[in-house]
Amino acid sequence: MNIRPRRLRRTSLLRESLAETQLSAAQLVQPHFVLNADTGREPIASMPGIERVGIRPLVERIERDLELGLRTVLLFGLADSKDARGSQAADEHGPVVRAVRAIRERLGERVTIVTDVCLCGYTDHGHCGLVRGSQVLNDETLPLLSAAAVAYAKAGADVIAPSDMMDGRVAALRTGLDAAGYSDRALLSYSTKFASAFYGPFREAAHSAPQQGDRRSYQLDHRNAREALRESLLDVDEGADMLMVKPALAYLDVLRSIKERALVPVAAYNVSGEYSMVKASAERGWIDERAVVREILHSIRRAGADWIISYHAREALQGGWL
Ligand code: PBG
Repeated sequence: MNIRPRRLRRTSLLRESLAETQLSAAQLVQPHFVLNADTGREPIASMPGIERVGIRPLVERIERDLELGLRTVLLFGLADSKDARGSQAADEHGPVVRAVRAIRERLGERVTIVTDVCLCGYTDHGHCGLVRGSQVLNDETLPLLSAAAVAYAKAGADVIAPSDMMDGRVAALRTGLDAAGYSDRALLSYSTKFASAFYGPFREAAHSAPQQGDRRSYQLDHRNAREALRESLLDVDEGADMLMVKPALAYLDVLRSIKERALVPVAAYNVSGEYSMVKASAERGWIDERAVVREILHSIRRAGADWIISYHAREALQGGWL
């Protein structure tokens, strides 16, 4: 016997035809940071190539992205006024409701709109729920999240994505949406979300850093894979239509185990710190960005992601990196 695995790697045509993992624009989700303003663009120092944008440039950008096949967007709103209850999250005149309406009006059903639901970008204390003393309150937060979900559904969002990590929020949002007549809108739960240092650049982008303490009383400990699986499976029981693992790269083992055990689609969030690390080393000429991004996105897909949320989505498609 002369077994030589290299025979199947000899030509690029053979390698292409035998690739086990396929990734296309349909699986990529582009995040957007939306200002509560008609116009304007603000660069984000720690995320080169990503900007906070007003409603009009947002819609124009999404329309241009459609030509690349990028048809799913994830929206984060930036409050222009904050309070202890994060009131602008559910506000009719808040950034997300305005953005969803404007996108729908201009682009109709050509785009799938996913809206993040959380309070941290809207509260003056920067936590994802209501705060009393040093406590982040769970059940008291649920009605506020539910109100935001209903407002986004009413504006036309297809998928509502709670990222707060309060217990019972998936059930609360499902109940709220159904009662308001939106039983047809899907819930993508940030079901397995770790307390991660990889969110650093996002918090600069979204002005959402906690003013005191950290998020470890509600987000997961990076050492825990069983607890991570439990969180996702609980969300399926509560009615999540899709699950998410976040961040992606340091947690591909968790992504795989959730994919094997749950029968709903699973998204992976290639988060801000993962993006910024690639950008920073590419700027210094230390890595080949195109090749590294291709490898990262394929690896996340190989581990089992049905959707990949990535700040690199547009650039990867534009440059033909995949
Ligand atoms: C809000 C939220 C965060 C991210 C997505 N939604 C930040 C956080 O939990 O502090 C992070 C995304 C990224 O880093 O790209 N709760």
